[in-house]
Amino acid sequence: MVSNEFAIAIMAAGKGTRLKSKHPKVLHEIGGRALLLYVIAAAETAVTPDHIYCIIGHESERVKVAVAATGVQFVLQPEQRGTGHAIQMLKADFERSGTPLPKHLLVLSGDVPLIRPETIATVRDTHLRERAAMTILTAVPTDPTGYGRVLRANPKKPEVTAIVEQKSLTPDQLSAPEINSGIYCFETQALFSKLDALNTNNAHGEFYLTDIAAMLVAEGKRVVAVKAHSVDEVLGANTIAEMMHLDAAMRLATARRLMDSGVTIFRPETCVIDSAVTIGPDTVIEPYVQLLGATQIGSDSRIRSYSVIQNCTIGNNVTVLNGCVFDDSDIADNAILGPYSRLRPESHIGEGAHIGNFVETKKTTIGKGSKASHLSYLGDAIIGAGVNIGAGTITCNYDGVHKHRTTIGDGAFIGSDSNLVAPINIGAGSYIAAGSSITEDVPDGALALGRSRQTNKPGWVAARKAAKQKA
Ligand code: UD1
Ligand code: CA
Repeated sequence: MVSNEFAIAIMAAGKGTRLKSKHPKVLHEIGGRALLLYVIAAAETAVTPDHIYCIIGHESERVKVAVAATGVQFVLQPEQRGTGHAIQMLKADFERSGTPLPKHLLVLSGDVPLIRPETIATVRDTHLRERAAMTILTAVPTDPTGYGRVLRANPKKPEVTAIVEQKSLTPDQLSAPEINSGIYCFETQALFSKLDALNTNNAHGEFYLTDIAAMLVAEGKRVVAVKAHSVDEVLGANTIAEMMHLDAAMRLATARRLMDSGVTIFRPETCVIDSAVTIGPDTVIEPYVQLLGATQIGSDSRIRSYSVIQNCTIGNNVTVLNGCVFDDSDIADNAILGPYSRLRPESHIGEGAHIGNFVETKKTTIGKGSKASHLSYLGDAIIGAGVNIGAGTITCNYDGVHKHRTTIGDGAFIGSDSNLVAPINIGAGSYIAAGSSITEDVPDGALALGRSRQTNKPGWVAARKAAKQKA
C-alpha cells in the first residue's frame, strides 16, 4: 500500500458505559491482551504506525500509556459526542497540523478486536475496485440486535442506501439482518466534506458517523457494503458478556494454533491460554490449566490440571503436577514440580531439580538436580547442585526490616525441619542435623547440630501416675 494513499483511524475514545467498569473499554482484555492492541496490530499490517491515528478521550492518558510502544499517533476527543464527532476531531487535527490528507481513510473500531488483516485488505480492495466514496464491512449474525443495520436497495447488489441505528429502526426494519461492523473505508475528501453537516437529532443525541452513508448517497456518491467471512471477527465488545464471548473465541483460536503445531491440549475449552503463550511440540496440557502472559514452554513437557502459570519460561521434558502456581520464574529441562508448589517471582529452578508439594520459593536459585520435596519456604536463597533440602526446611530471610540471603553449597544435606537464619552460608557437602536452628556459617564438609541435647527420664510416666493416685 502506498503510504500517503491510506491512513487508518481507530475510534477508541468511548467510555464503554455498558461495561459498568471503571476501566476504559478499549483496555479491557480478551485472551490476556487489551482490545485496542489487537486492533492496532491488525492496522499495522496495512499501514505504518505513523499513519495510524488512535482517537482517544475517556481516560486518554491511561490508554496512551498502554499502547504507546506501538508508535501510533494520537488524536484527542476531549468529550465523547459520538463516532461522527470522533472523526470530526481527526479532521480538525489534520487541519491544525497541516498534515496532507491521505486519499483514503480506513476507519476501525477499538472495540471490534478480532478483525483480521485479510479482512482489512478486502475492505480496502473492494473500496478501490468499486471506486466507492464509502465501503462498509458488514456481517449477518444470528442475532443482529443492538447493531446498526445496513440497508441495500437490492440485496444482491453492493450498493447501500443507509445505515440505521438500532434505536431508529422502523418496525419493518427491525428484522433487517445485515449489521454494520463499524469498520469502513472512505474517500477522505468525500467524508470530510460531509462531517460538518452531521447533527445530533437521534436517540442518543450524538453525532453518528453512520449517517454519512445516506448523506453521500443523497449526493449521488457510491456507498457499498462487503460481507466479512466470519461473523466473530466483526463482533463488538460492548458488554462483559460480549467481551467473554470474544475471549472464548480468541482463546480457542490460540489453542487451535498450538494444537496445529503439535501441542496436545485436552479439553481446550476448559483451559485459559493467553494469546502470547508459546509451547513446543509433544507437550501435553491437561484440562483446567491457565497459561498466562508471556509464558513459554518447551517440548515434551506436561502440565497437569489446575496449574496457573504466569510469565514463566519452562524448558523441555518438565513435569508440572497438579495445582501449582508459578509467577515470573524459569524452570530448566527435566525438572519435576508439584503437586501444589508455589514459585513466586524470580525463582530459577535448575535442570532436573525436584520441587515438591507445599514448597514455596521466592528470589531463589535451585541448582541442577537439587531436591526440596516437601513443605519448605526457600526465599532469597542461592542453592547449589545436588543439594537435598529436607521436609519443613525454612530460610528465615526476614528480620522484620530487611531481607537476607542464604547460600547453600553443592551437595549439602539439610536435615528436616531446619531453620536457616539468614544471612548465612552453608558450605558445600556439609550436613545439617534435623531440627536445627542454624545461626552461624557452616564450613564445607562439616556437620552442624543446632538443637538442644535430648534427655530421657526412665520410668517418669509410671512415677507420675502413682503420685496422682496417692493425692
Ligand atoms: C457503532 C455503530 C453501529 C455498529 C457498531 C458496530 C455508530 C453510531 N454506530 O455502534 O452502527 O453496528 O458500532 O460495533 O457509529 N467512540 C469514540 N468516540 C465517541 C463514541 C465512540 O471514539 O464519541 C468509539 C468507541 O470507543 C468504540 C467505537 O467508537 O470503540 C464505537 O462506539 P460504540 O459506542 O461502541 O458504538 P456502537 O453503539 O457499538
Ligand atoms: Ca461498539
